[in-house]
Amino acid sequence: MQKIDAEELFQAQTLLYNYTYGFIGSMCLKSAVHLGIPDVISNHGQPITIPELVSALKIDPNKSGYVYRLMRLLVHAGFFAITKVTKKDNKEEEEVRYDLTPSSRLLLKENVPTLSPFVRAMFHPALVHSSEFLAEWFHKSEVTPFNTAFGMSYWEYLSQNQEFNGLFNEAMISDSGMMNLVIKNCKSVFEGLNSLVDVGGGKGAVGRIVSEELPNLHWTVLDLPHVVANSPDSTNLKFVGGDMFQFIPSADAILLKLILHAFGDEECVKVLKKCREAISNTGKKGKVIIIDIVISEKNEDHVLTEAKLLFDMLMMVLVNGKEREEKEWEKLFLGAGFSHYKITPLFGMRSLIEVYP
Ligand SMILES: C[S@@+](CC[C@H](N)C(=O)[O-])C[C@H]1O[C@@H](n2cnc3c(N)ncnc32)[C@H](O)[C@@H]1O
Repeated sequence: MQKIDAEELFQAQTLLYNYTYGFIGSMCLKSAVHLGIPDVISNHGQPITIPELVSALKIDPNKSGYVYRLMRLLVHAGFFAITKVTKKDNKEEEEVRYDLTPSSRLLLKENVPTLSPFVRAMFHPALVHSSEFLAEWFHKSEVTPFNTAFGMSYWEYLSQNQEFNGLFNEAMISDSGMMNLVIKNCKSVFEGLNSLVDVGGGKGAVGRIVSEELPNLHWTVLDLPHVVANSPDSTNLKFVGGDMFQFIPSADAILLKLILHAFGDEECVKVLKKCREAISNTGKKGKVIIIDIVISEKNEDHVLTEAKLLFDMLMMVLVNGKEREEKEWEKLFLGAGFSHYKITPLFGMRSLIEVYP
């Protein structure tokens, strides 16, 4: 057996403990979001001291030391930054103030884009609880650990829990808000299209963003009836309740944003075949536009790959879905009868894939 020296073993211990306690880091982020720390700092108008933060949060001043320790971890993780400034009343002394970073700015409730609803929904007890069933599930016959934990699929659970359904839909709207940042760069993807069906389009967040830039594009959102309920149509945005495995309305293009990663290969091929039928019915040479994760471990940043792999585990826990490498995507497209595709890595974790008949 290869001899491992003590230094290597201690490094190994650090990796083990970092992952073991990763959940504590997640819960610290959750507490910062639930306490509203990013908004308090933003409303303060300048970097904030711990006593000011404690007072604004209406926390017992005896807990200041705990708030300091929470902030110390979150600064280390990159969610907040510290600045040192000389005290107003004593120019000899410095005080530490806490400021936002790009990550915590994304958690401001009123900002556009905001990921606050996304992060809140992902910390819902149902999601956290189901991940605890991962090991047990490997020995079980249920499709997902979520099914093992709750005796029903994630989608059934959503349809039966109004509160969580609302949170999940808000989460998706907030995730789609990030599209605002790139829509100008990918206008050409939608140009020349008269009609598009956004399959699994939720509450129509992407449609609203794209419509502002391309008002002549007729946008139809197809999603499950309990999701599109109470979503009023507007001039060029229409909602249809239905099941994408049964029927997809005809259009020049079909959009699938964060849909296929939530399903297994067979189901994806089924949906893609339905998409192909839907775009060929118009008589034009349409396309399918996919916004989803492409895992490309070789050429990308370690942190980005880790985020994608964590998403992959989330898909395994919740919905029998998976994040795919390019080869796996290609297999789905060819399996559904498409001839070629083009991948553009545009959206941080997500790529844009155009698929052609
Ligand atoms: C991860 S969300 C993505 C929402 C939206 N595309 C976005 O990116 O903001 C997946 C969506 O697929 C919808 N969905 C799941 N199963 C479906 C089905 N069989 N037919 C139509 N929509 C479905 C869900 O209701 C949900 O809105």
